[in-house]
Amino acid sequence: MSRIAVLGTGNVGQTIAGKLADVGHEVKTGTRSDGTYAEAAAFGEIVVNATAGAASLEALEAAGSENLAGKTLWDIANPLDFSQGMPPTLTVSNDDSLGEQIQRAHPDANVVKALNTITAALMVEPALLGEETNLFICGNEKSAKAEVIQILETFGWLSGDIVDVGDITAARGTEAYLLLWIRLMGVLDTPTFNIKIVRAGD
Ligand SMILES: NC(=O)c1ccc[n+]([C@@H]2O[C@H](COP(=O)([O-])OP(=O)(O)OC[C@H]3O[C@@H](n4cnc5c(N)ncnc54)[C@H](OP(=O)(O)O)[C@@H]3O)[C@@H](O)[C@H]2O)c1
Repeated sequence: MSRIAVLGTGNVGQTIAGKLADVGHEVKTGTRSDGTYAEAAAFGEIVVNATAGAASLEALEAAGSENLAGKTLWDIANPLDFSQGMPPTLTVSNDDSLGEQIQRAHPDANVVKALNTITAALMVEPALLGEETNLFICGNEKSAKAEVIQILETFGWLSGDIVDVGDITAARGTEAYLLLWIRLMGVLDTPTFNIKIVRAGD
């Protein structure tokens, strides 16, 4: 079991922090209101970024590179800009991503992007869907991805359903998927859905 910091106390931060504690980790949450991002990050052996994507770089700067160095930095955030209303646009896309921006800002941290493609309730209870679906994971450091996959398994995800799409540049795709995800949420009239990959021969 690990000491894990969860930065951000919105829906995702609370859901992830609660589940991590349920499965036996020691969890410290960081929030901008109390200025505790750095305190939490210093405590964590693993740090989870569950802050609003448009504010994540600022939040992680407050957490401090020195408190992230050498650690797995599990990034769940999406770079969504709601300032012009719905649907949101991406603050970064195409040839860059929030995952990469975070990795560049904190080169000594091992950024792993995972869980950003599904709604909070499903993150910690994939069985809600009644069948197996897929998750994407990416990041430059294999051991950091393995650490996140191990935790995801305790949440109920099957390792065979977690698709490693490569280094952190793959976040360009998993973040941009949100543009479709938001449309799907509208037409399906629920955020509680996910995608399943089917290959010929499966
Ligand atoms: N909601 C979902 O189901 C879902 C699914 C997939 C991915 N995500 C991503 O996960 C992240 C968290 O989502 P969320 O739904 O929990 O909440 P959110 O409304 O996107 O905000 C999350 C938290 O970010 C922190 N934050 C720091 N600086 C901020 C600023 N300047 N403005 C606004 N918030 C700021 C706040 O926590 P403190 O006040 O504690 O600092 C806030 O509660 C987002 O990046 C989102 O795109 C969400």
